[in-house]
Amino acid sequence: MKAVVDKDLCIGCELCTSICPEVFSMDDDGLAVAIDEELDENLIESAKEAEESCPTEAITVE
Ligand code: F3S
Repeated sequence: MKAVVDKDLCIGCELCTSICPEVFSMDDDGLAVAIDEELDENLIESAKEAEESCPTEAITVE
């Protein structure tokens, strides 16, 4: 599984980075970015929680 942030939807609320900082970080443009690699098994649950919590549904974990 991988996490992807759609920067066209992200409004930079930083919720994902506080829920799952291992996967999400803020880029120089003030929008979130996800690590570009397969998620470790132990990170999938919190990455999915970030996906569900994002107010603009900018995150996809699949
Ligand atoms: Fe952006 Fe959603 Fe994270 S708006 S900063 S991807 S919680």
